[in-house]
Amino acid sequence: MATHTLFLIPGDGIGTEIMAEVEKIIAWTNSEGLTDFATDQGLAGGAAYDRHQVAITEEDVAKAKAADAVIFGAVGGPKWDDVPYEHRPEAALLRLRKELSVFANLRPAICYPALAGASALKRELVEGLDILIVRELTGGVYFGEPKEIVDLPNGQKRAVDTQVYETYEIDRIARVAFDLARTRKGLVHSADKKNVMKSGVLWDEVVRSVAKDYPDVQFQHILADNAAMQLVRNPKQFDVMVTDNLFGDILSDAAAMLTGSLGMLPSASLGAPDPATGKRKAFYEPVHGSAPDIAGKGVANPIAMIASFAMALRYSFGMTELAGKVEAAIAGVLGDGLRTADIGEDNRRTVGTQEMGAAILGKLRA
Ligand code: NAD
Ligand code: IPM
Ligand code: MN
Repeated sequence: MATHTLFLIPGDGIGTEIMAEVEKIIAWTNSEGLTDFATDQGLAGGAAYDRHQVAITEEDVAKAKAADAVIFGAVGGPKWDDVPYEHRPEAALLRLRKELSVFANLRPAICYPALAGASALKRELVEGLDILIVRELTGGVYFGEPKEIVDLPNGQKRAVDTQVYETYEIDRIARVAFDLARTRKGLVHSADKKNVMKSGVLWDEVVRSVAKDYPDVQFQHILADNAAMQLVRNPKQFDVMVTDNLFGDILSDAAAMLTGSLGMLPSASLGAPDPATGKRKAFYEPVHGSAPDIAGKGVANPIAMIASFAMALRYSFGMTELAGKVEAAIAGVLGDGLRTADIGEDNRRTVGTQEMGAAILGKLRA
């Protein structure tokens, strides 16, 4: 019997193209005896809707819950713009995050040395960049009730989304950020809008009280709008940035461009350790979406997806050395001058998804 189970959900658009490259890496690590993964595949998003008229089936939700780790591609696309709101592709992703209670979303933005010239920012601003956004993932305005559009007597409509946070939700995400800062440069910025939002006031109060338990970690409050500006003005001032679900979504896309492309940013979403077994539910996905504009062309960058798999090796299976090897293989092919179109610079060799995947696997084999 296999030691660990992985549930793979490629999803839509480039999700299927980039997942195929991870599957080749899994086949190789298994064949070398480096891992003993049993894999199963599920459908989510538009792919599930087309087959089952739902964003994800109950059976696939159950399989995701039972797996040691879920590896997710991306969902969504214009084809499903008109499906009922509750069945839209993104609903699958939100449901999985909520049902798995993977509240801690780690989004590392690392500028690989070979890509310092590929960022939209000047080389000196991003060279050596290594920051970590810790995004709260199962609360806030994404899930708060009421969430509705109601008809008003005057013929107008009223749309409501509700931003809600409770103390325990802020406390546990803050502890994740401070624990991780201890393993890094020892600095935490907490980004909120306490100048406007009640949830921001509580956010700051709770993060400050958690900070008292970590006297060895430096703590800095920052307003979220200023955080966006500082990320592009001087990103290397940051180490760990903890923030809520919505701000974390937006700030991490901005951080992605510091590394050269959205196609470079992986993520790990972790739950609380089970008191009995110590195991935590985990969900790994690139930060980017299904990229409908390039889907089906074979040009998507598979690095965010492959680096998400490396995070699974590290965080779910303690395979630190193998994770490091995968990351070194990525750095290696970039160092050799290989580029997908999104990170392409002049005079570099531009390759497609499969060629990039094969080159990374080639480095691993070497
Ligand atoms: P997107 O992240 O899909 O794409 C934004 C831009 O980045 C596009 O120009 C795209 O070509 C480029 N890009 C993204 N990933 C890339 C990669 N790996 N290689 C090369 N280029 C890449 O965002 P969008 O266009 O705003 O959204 C498209 C769909 O994806 C929407 O339906 C959205 O809801 C969904 N989405 C899903 C996820 C997810 O499943 N986790 C995340 C974000 C967006
Ligand atoms: C992300 C995505 C998702 C989010 C969407 C697709 C629901 O943008 O993972 O960053 O907003 O969380
Ligand atoms: Mn996003």
